[in-house]
Amino acid sequence: MSGITHRVAQLLSEGEPGSTVTVGGWVRTRRDSKQGFSFIELNDGSSMAGLQVIADNTVPGYEETIKGVQTGSSIRVTGELKESPGAKQRVELHAKSLELVGTSDVETYPLQKKRHSFEFLREIAHLRPRTNTFGAIARVRNRVSHGIHTFFQSRGFLYVHTPIITTSDCEGAGEMFTVTTLLQESRAQGQESRAESQEPSAASLDPGSSTLDYSTDFFGKKASLTVSGQLEAEIYATSVGPCYTFGPTFRAENSNTTRHLAEFWMIEPEMPFYELDDNMQLAEEFIKFLINDVLQNCADDMEFFNQRIEKTVLETLRHIVEKDFRRISYTEAVDILTSAGRSWDYPVEWGHNLQAEHERFLTEEHFQQPIIVYDYPRAIKPFYMYCNDDGKTVRAMDVLVPRVGEIIGGSQREHRLDVLESRIKECGLDPEEYWWYLDLRRFGSVPHAGFGLGLERMLLLLTGMQNIRDVIPFPRTPKNAEF
Ligand code: 4AD
Ligand code: MG
Repeated sequence: MSGITHRVAQLLSEGEPGSTVTVGGWVRTRRDSKQGFSFIELNDGSSMAGLQVIADNTVPGYEETIKGVQTGSSIRVTGELKESPGAKQRVELHAKSLELVGTSDVETYPLQKKRHSFEFLREIAHLRPRTNTFGAIARVRNRVSHGIHTFFQSRGFLYVHTPIITTSDCEGAGEMFTVTTLLQESRAQGQESRAESQEPSAASLDPGSSTLDYSTDFFGKKASLTVSGQLEAEIYATSVGPCYTFGPTFRAENSNTTRHLAEFWMIEPEMPFYELDDNMQLAEEFIKFLINDVLQNCADDMEFFNQRIEKTVLETLRHIVEKDFRRISYTEAVDILTSAGRSWDYPVEWGHNLQAEHERFLTEEHFQQPIIVYDYPRAIKPFYMYCNDDGKTVRAMDVLVPRVGEIIGGSQREHRLDVLESRIKECGLDPEEYWWYLDLRRFGSVPHAGFGLGLERMLLLLTGMQNIRDVIPFPRTPKNAEF
């Protein structure tokens, strides 16, 4: 055993009055009564609510120990669970022994009882999970991750681990972080040669410049951190059937927004014999399942978000699960936007990407519900999407939700060998680089489709939090990779 017998959440929901238990955690507050006993609010991160601990001078060493029981300190308590006279909780713990495990200096402990700004808390990301908000986010994030596996496993999908280091740029957007050992080697060599010959350092080599010869690099060619596991997921989908990836994803896009991270988590299901309509149906069921699962299993945390973070979050989520998502083509979306009588920061024109302001107008104002936009212009989409007969559009789909905008991006894949080959060339890529991807179309090709859900975007929707940096434990964004 770990030295404790129970977690606080367990005791609050099902702890039996009269039983003896040992709990451990961090002190939120301590209040002393004139009658010579103390109320300690103990939180161990298992639930929003803490456990009320009552200690008095019958506890061995009470006088000396209690002085150290300060906000932020860690304690372990053994005692008897009793029914609580207060309305706030069902049970409270009457201490028989109280151990001060780790002291905390209240003068310098950064978390005070008052509310802190999220900007400040980002600077103390090592302590912020001790706050109500970040504890709740951690629990909801955990629950969604569980729900993702439950959803796919119950439908017979296989969980596939696609590589983090890759040599193919799935999205073709040039947003990859290069993985190389050339710089450290050249730096080491540079230092040696400097010592010998006073030559200038080679450390200023730019990995993007042609001076790096990747054939001599660790992998023998240019490698990067993955922007998507899709291409590898397609390999498995066309072998073992429906499958999904769920892992970290990296994008070196220099966008400092409240919706972009350089490292985020993505869930990518891939299904053989699926076409675009099947893909849309699955995406909708997936989102609804995750919302229902969190509403059921994180009720206290969700109540907190609704009261303290975003007053409309529960209402929005209930609305989302009740209604069918609206499906509109990209062309229809452009028509709605151009006749909306609005002035946009980015002009709307057929053939251009929809910007966040357009997406949010459609889902928040025009339809006031989630929508799926499909059949985007082929010129703005990656090489792998199925080309429609109109010669202008591809079978892409984006799911847009209120307050967040794009939460899912996906498509039916091009499974026709000749069309795919010419699309790869049309996108300025080299078919030889994609020999293995083309093989999947050479040998037993099937129509297939899939999509990617951004986990942190899903968490923004669920929690009502405004900034994506606050729904991942340690955000990585331009100029920031602390902790
Ligand atoms: O639309 P995206 O780029 O689609 C793909 O990567 C496809 N290969 C997925 C597939 O079909 N298997 O990204 C999918 C989702 C977006 O809708 C968004 O939710 C999230 O990933 N996302 C980001 N989340 C946080 N920070 C970023 N920089 C993100 N870029 C994409
Ligand atoms: Mg997208």
